[in-house]
Formats: sequence, C-alpha cells, structure tokens
Amino acid sequence: MDLRSLRAGDSVSKRKTQSAASSSSGSLMRLRKNNTPTPLLTTPHGTPYQLSSQNHVTAESAKLNERTRNMRVYAAKAQGASSADSVEWKWHIHSTLPLLGDSGARLKLIVIDANSGIKSPEFDVDDWAWSLPRDDGSNGWKREGAILLPKNIKSPGAVLIRKEPVENGDSARDYITSFELICATSKHTFPVSSWICSDHGERVFFSGTAYLLKDTPAGMKSERDIDLEALRGTYGSRDDKRKETDRIYWYQTYNDLSTGALIRPNLGHTKDLPYPRRIATNRGNVEDREVPPPPGEEIWLPLDDRFGNEKAQEFNAGSQLGVATAAFTVIAEAADVKDRAPITLLPSLTIGIIRTIIAKILRLFSPPLDYFEDFEDVIAMYKKASSSFEALLPTKLYPEVTANPGATRKVRKASSFRSADGTWDFELKKKDAVQLDNLTTEERVPIQVGPLYGSATGTPAGRSAFTEDSKPGASGKKERVGSKLWDFLTGNTPSVNNLFNFNIPRVLDSRPNAWHSDEEFGRQAVAGYNPCVIKALTELPETFGSAIREEHVIGDLQGDTMKDLVSEAKAGGKPRLYYIDYWDLSAIWALADKDPAKIDVKPTGWLGKLLQFFLGRTDEGQAVQHAGRAILYLKKDAEGNDVGLIPVAIELAHKEQPGPAPSFGHVYSRSQLSADPSTEAVWRLAKMIFKSLDSSFHQLISHWLRTHCVLEPFYIALRRQISAMHPVYKLMLPHFRYTVNINRNARASLINAGGVIEKTFSAGPYAMRLSSIVYGKDWNFATEALPEDLKTRGMVDANGKPWLDYPYATDGLDVWNALTSYFDKYLRLYYKSDEDVENDAELKEWWSEVKTVGHGDLMEFGLRPGGEEQLWGFEGNITSVQQLVRVLATIAWLGSGHHAAVNFGQYDYTSFVLNAPSLVRKPMPAPGDKSWEKLTRAPVGEKQEAIIMTYLSDPFTAATVAATVKLLSTHARDEQTLDEMNPHLVDPDACVANQDFIEDMKRLEQTIEMRNADSKNWARFRLALGDTARPLPYTLLLPGSPAGVTMRGVPYSVSI
Ligand SMILES: [Fe+2]
Repeated sequence: MDLRSLRAGDSVSKRKTQSAASSSSGSLMRLRKNNTPTPLLTTPHGTPYQLSSQNHVTAESAKLNERTRNMRVYAAKAQGASSADSVEWKWHIHSTLPLLGDSGARLKLIVIDANSGIKSPEFDVDDWAWSLPRDDGSNGWKREGAILLPKNIKSPGAVLIRKEPVENGDSARDYITSFELICATSKHTFPVSSWICSDHGERVFFSGTAYLLKDTPAGMKSERDIDLEALRGTYGSRDDKRKETDRIYWYQTYNDLSTGALIRPNLGHTKDLPYPRRIATNRGNVEDREVPPPPGEEIWLPLDDRFGNEKAQEFNAGSQLGVATAAFTVIAEAADVKDRAPITLLPSLTIGIIRTIIAKILRLFSPPLDYFEDFEDVIAMYKKASSSFEALLPTKLYPEVTANPGATRKVRKASSFRSADGTWDFELKKKDAVQLDNLTTEERVPIQVGPLYGSATGTPAGRSAFTEDSKPGASGKKERVGSKLWDFLTGNTPSVNNLFNFNIPRVLDSRPNAWHSDEEFGRQAVAGYNPCVIKALTELPETFGSAIREEHVIGDLQGDTMKDLVSEAKAGGKPRLYYIDYWDLSAIWALADKDPAKIDVKPTGWLGKLLQFFLGRTDEGQAVQHAGRAILYLKKDAEGNDVGLIPVAIELAHKEQPGPAPSFGHVYSRSQLSADPSTEAVWRLAKMIFKSLDSSFHQLISHWLRTHCVLEPFYIALRRQISAMHPVYKLMLPHFRYTVNINRNARASLINAGGVIEKTFSAGPYAMRLSSIVYGKDWNFATEALPEDLKTRGMVDANGKPWLDYPYATDGLDVWNALTSYFDKYLRLYYKSDEDVENDAELKEWWSEVKTVGHGDLMEFGLRPGGEEQLWGFEGNITSVQQLVRVLATIAWLGSGHHAAVNFGQYDYTSFVLNAPSLVRKPMPAPGDKSWEKLTRAPVGEKQEAIIMTYLSDPFTAATVAATVKLLSTHARDEQTLDEMNPHLVDPDACVANQDFIEDMKRLEQTIEMRNADSKNWARFRLALGDTARPLPYTLLLPGSPAGVTMRGVPYSVSI
C-alpha cells in the first residue's frame, strides 16, 4: 500500500454507506402532522417487531401494537377477506435518509402478484417509524407492520407506493431505500432507492429479480411500460418547466452556458458546434438561451439524481475550505509572508493591502499579485504542510557556479533554531543542525521530507513562555492546553494547516529534482494526469504539417535517426519515438478572430470593484493560447533496456506570431537548447508552455469531454428506455451514480461563462467551444474502448501488449479485461442467445436514442465520413452478446477507469503551477525576439525564474486552480469503488458474477502494488535521476480508496 495515501490530514478512512438495517441501535419516532419527529423510545436495534406481542411494556409500544392490530383489521376489511382466504405478511420499509418533518407516513401501498397481476387492496402505512442512527450522525428510519394479502398473491412481484399530500394539500415526500414482504415461507425485497413524492401519484417498484422484457412475468408487463412512460414524459410534458419533484428525463443542448452579459454560443445541434446532450432543465428561453435559475436556486435535477446528504455536505464543505485556503494563499502572497497562521493573518492582510495599494497607485514596484516572484514563491503555497520547505526546492536549478553571471544561489544562513534547508526543527540538537547545514547541496538531496505536520513555528522560547511546558512542575493539563493553543495560533496543527495551506502535491513531495526533469516530463506522458493522448510516431512529422526535422532530434537519439526509427515503427517494430499533438488548440485562434469574447464584465458594487482592484492583474485579459506538438524518445541503456521517455523536440505556435495563422510553429530542440546554460531556460519554458497545453487538453477533452460530458446522454436514454427490471439497468446504474449532479455543478460554476475554466485556462472564453470542435472532429465511441484506443494510438503490439512501461495502459487493461469478463458472465445469465439481444426492444430503443438524439449531431451533420461504423464500431442495432458486452464495458470503463485515471491525480499534478500551468500569459519567445534575449541573458536563479513566472499563472489563478482541483480530486466517504458490490443486484447468480469481479479487483490491487515495487518499471518506480527522487508509484487505477485526496481509487462512476 502506498503509505502516503494514508497520510494524516489528507485522507480519512472511508465510511461505507450503511443500510439502516446495519445500524447498531434504534429509537422509536412518532411523527406528527407538520411537525418534526419526536423521539419516544430508544431500543437496541434488532429488537424484532412483534406483530401482536406484549413484549413492549411502555405506553408508546402499546400504542404501536394497538395501531398495528387496527391496521390488520383495516387491511382485512379493505380486502373483504377473512383469515381463511388471506395470508398474513409482515412488511418493512427502510430508509437511509433522515425523516423529513412533514408529519406522518401517509403512504398507501398495493402489492401485485408477479404472475397473475392480481392487486391487493390498498393499505395504509402507519405513521410510526423506528429511527436508526447512522455513522455520520444522521438518522435513517424504518417502518414495519403487517397485512393480510389474498391467498392468490403467492409471489409478490411489484409494489405500488403512493405518498399522500399533507392535509393542507402541500406536497410531501419520503425517501425509501427498500421495501420488504415476509411470510412464513418466503421473503421478497423490492429495491426502491427513490424519493416518493405526493406529486408522483402511484409509483411502481419491482422485486429485485431482473427480467428481460420478453421474460417479464405477465402480471408485471403493463407496470413495466407504465413506469417507463412516466420517466419519458409526453411530448408536451418533457418540454414543460420543471417542478422540483419532477422525474422526467429528456434532452437539451448546452444552451445555458451564458451568464448575464457574458454571452456564449450554445453547444449542440449545429454543424460547427456539435455536442452531446445534457438533461433537460426547461427553465425557459430568452432568444435561444436558457435563462439562469433564480438567484439562490440551484439548477433543477430529478431528486433521485442528486448527491446524497453526506456527499452534498462534503462537497460544499470541501468547496468552502478550498475558497478559504485560496484566500489565505492570496493574502500571504500579497504580503509576501511565508508563514500562515491565525496569529499572522491580520498583520498579513494589512501588509498585503498596503503593498498592493502602493504598487497599484504609486507604481513603485510590480503589484504582488501580478506574478509569482520565482519558483520558491510558487512552492511557498505548500510550505507549512512540510517540515522542510527548502527540501522541496529543486537543487539542480540553483547550481553554485554556472556560466551565467549572477547564477549563484543565495545561501541562507542557519538561524539558531532552523537549518538552512529546513529539514530540522527546534527539537533537533543544534550540533546536528550545524552538521546538516555543512552538507553540500548534493549530499542534502536524499534527505526525505520530515513528518508532514511536525514543523515548529516560532521559537522555542516563545513556545515555552506560552505553554509553561518548560517550567518544573507544570501540570499535564496546562501543558496540553497551552501547547495546543500555541500550536493552533502558530498554525502548527493539521486543521490549521489544511485551512491555511495546500498540501504538498505528490509530484513535488520528496522529489525536488524530479518535476522539472525531462525524464519526469516523459514519465507523466504515460503515468501522469493525462496519459491517454500519447501516440507512437509512425510517420515523419512533416507529413502532418509539423516543422520538426531530423536536426532537431538527432542529438538525443543515441546514434539512431528519426527516419530509421519511424520506418521501423511503421513496419511493425517497436516504436522508440512518440508524439503528443495539441495542434487542435489552434482552432481557438479562428474563433477569437470571428467572435472576440470577454471573460469578465466590469464589476459592479463597491465590493466587486474592491476585489477587482486587489485581485485583478494589471495586464488583465492577456492569455495566450498556444498550439503545440512534442516528440519523445524512449531511451535505452547499454543492454538495450528501456530506461525512460524524454521530450526531444517541442514545437509551439501562437496566434500573433509573424505570418498567416500557421500550421507549424517554432521548434525547440532539447539537444540544442539544454546543453547551454544560457538557453536552458528556454527549453524549460518550452516544456512548461507545452505542459499548459497538456493541462488544458486534459481538463477540456480527456477529463470533461471524454467522461463527464459524453456519458450523460447514455444515462438519460437508460432511464427513458430501459426498465428498472432490466438486467442491463441494474448492471449499469452504478456507473452513472451522481454523474448528472456533478455535471450540473460544472455548468453552474466551472464551464459556464466567467466560470473557473474560463478564468484560469489560456483558452478562456473559447474553452467550451474547443471541446465541441474536438468532439465533432475526433470523438468516436468505437475507439473509446481501451484496447481500441491503445491500438489506434499505436501504443501496443500485435498482441495488444504495451510497447513500453505504460502504467495507465497496463493497469487499465487489467481493469478492462475484468470488466468485460464480468459483463460477459452476467449478461449471459439473461441473454441465452444473440437473438435475445437482437430482439430486446428496450435495448434497441436505448441504443437508437443514444445514437440519434443524445449523440445525434455527429451523424446528422455528416461529421463521420466512415458512417456509424467509424463512430460506433458497427451499424444498426446491437445484435450479439459480445457486441453488447463491448458497448457496456466501454461505457463502464469511461465512467470508472478512464475517469479515475484523469481525475484523481489532478491535485497532485496540476495544482503545482510549475508542473502544469493552466494559464500562459505571453507568447513563447523565439530566436531574435526581445523576450528570447531577455530570458537567455538573465542570471540563472531567481532572476531567470522571475522572468519565467511572467509567462505563467499569477498567484490568484494558481490558488483558484489548486482549490478547484483539490475538490475534484477528493473521494467522498460514500464513494462506491470497483472493489465494492453493485448494490442493485439481487439475483444470486448475478451476485456471484459480481463477487468474482470484486475478487479480481482485489487481486489487481496486489498486482499493481507489485508492479509499483519493481525497479524495472521506470515509469512507476524510478527516474533516470540516480537516487535523488522518491519513486512516484502509479496508484491511480488501484480500485479501492479511503476518502480524501488519495491519488488512488476507481469509483464506478463519474461522481466528482
Ligand atoms: Fe471528474
């Protein structure tokens, strides 16, 4: 196990959502009309409900029994039955959510026999409930009672549940997790997991047994149809304005991205801007754009698709914590202070304001929030999370002597209580500290970062005076209280650290010389946050318009030539050259010419103007979108073993470069630039700007488009066309958990006009249009299946095995194979032949709707010359089990493995500006430019770094990105990962198939751990950097994870 994944403050043990039945105690709640529940009696959970017993001795339990007896009488009367022609059944209703305060149950139930369709008379559910405390402090509840059902209801197959409105007519609702019926000989569970609202009328819930349409017991066929019809809505109702409790699934274009005065074109249903559909929210349009929700209101979602209480609370808390941390980071940056703690907050704020005012009004120096000062300034975002801040600094960027004048790194003097490199704290003996300071830079490199929150802040003297812990005879209590208070005020506690500072990203932690190395650049291409873009180079770059030529790369090819290596790869040999192509980003240049768009409008109100004054950059508005390509070489040692992947040439272009909008740019050659200390900074900047393209492409395409966005229509079609009884529905539902909710949140604050993406990425207001253009040009479902994806990119040999150490592919293929094996086994339980698949009417409608509505633009506008086969892999209906397995596994892979690989490494790779800047603010220098001269002539060290930082994200942008990606990289406590059972399966054989898959996932954890421990796997274990970098194992496809930012764990679905 990766121990760092369990570090304090970064993750917490994930508590699995417990069913009410698993709670340890219960209390009886009486529900009053229009009132909150009142606890009446607490009993140990598990006390069986006694139908007519005298076991409960309290008045309350006597009332309960009396009411139950009354209900039995009622039920018997309602049925007109006698005990002779009726059977007594017990029923239980469970809920994992707290009771609402809308009074009693007022639930009406009818039981339907599966085969005959005979319905029981309607019976009332009593207004009593057992409250079931849950681990998160909330309560679930259960209700239970007894009924007499006609004898000819032998096999209950469905239950109709109706919620009555409150007496004044107001809408009422209950969340029900499951309903159970038990008689002497059998037990029937009806999975519900739904909000039952009085607006819904009668809702049907089927027993957990899965049935294809053709196998559905006769008594339930009509209910199956009725249920789907309700979800589909009618031609009229699906376009109606949505009420909160509506549960209609329909499609809408992305016509809600505009915000106020910031107008963005709608995405979807045009040839120029095709896009997948989202769930229809129907707030009404002004012109052709959907109006925003009223202030304070969230965008509508069906109740059953909303985050659970726990997830919603965690998401909101995480969001608020991120905002606070970002704010403190900005304050500290403005004040230029490195220590962040409550005790320094007010002075920092004051100093920051004064510095900013002086800089902006008097123009005596550059405003502190315009740029980071140097690399150290960037890394200071994480300082207090480490006991050894300077151990995070890259020593190789600070050589003692270099060819450039002024290159000598300023050597810090050791204070009495702090070493120069920060690797000791006040508890370290002084003589040891002096010894440590005397080590050369090189000797200091292997020193590991100390305890995460072990650093002392302030001096021992200050601490002693405050805590009395140095005084003889000080009481333990005083010592504890005093120390704790002191630690809190000085920021030396995990909670304050989490609030005031960002955790060290793992890409930097204990590997100060890794992030800026060429080897790390290459390693991230196959094991980083965006490992799904790299391709084998099987043709010379000029054939696809690139300016990269032999002379740019030959110095790094260990005696080979590009021409030979490309020929060998083209002939089927092992590729040694790879490339990453982000030329598609140049599409933004034409968009900007056609439609100059703003990111911000002028702030209104005094607060908006004030924030604009302090946070707005003096060069605001400048964001330069580059396009780029990189060629990478797979290095080998003397024995011919692969030892790492390095970039050998980077080609960059931007809109303002001389000449017409180019199809090629300037080439930055590693061998030519990095050999000379005066030009090494150019190579470093070229890599950083290329990584900004990588970061943009990752966020807009690999992450948002290829998972969040494309999956939503599959889910809408599933709800509309495939019954909850269908085995495919039960199999796939976990793979869509929370997806429409997180996508709704994204539309509200990330991808909307003026949202986080526009403000923090170079693509700015064109970002979403870019994702639309790439969707129209490149997205094919057929090649989203991982094996096909790898094959298309030339990353695997004829047997489908990766050519090189490619952790994303190797681990991903294991997940893929386990998924397909499980799906095959599961689906064949229900589909006995390919004809069964071909004749499945619900499946047919689902697939047709996905193709013609949810993803209809690509074919409708003729964007796929290869037709359906190119886009979907085959034409027409799904006609075999094998085809169905492929389709469903592709969807499941995108929602689970692919998403996990590109999502949960975001914080640890992309929060760090120097590793993956989201924003580029100036064009990349080219030879002859003034900017080239300025950079190459600057002294190595802080001055050169200061110039580099003028190209990259400013502190406010960096803090915003760090807070956002931290939130997005967090596993919730109720996350469902692939090593957990699918809760929607009931059929025994289906559960066995699922259990086998779980076992596969557990074995995969061990396999991945072993791969990560194998030193031959250069992309997981070590870099060609000697022993100076701690290995960064590939953990992103380890199936399980605790809650928190763990850089591991594969949830079933896109849920964050
Ligand atoms: Fe995500």
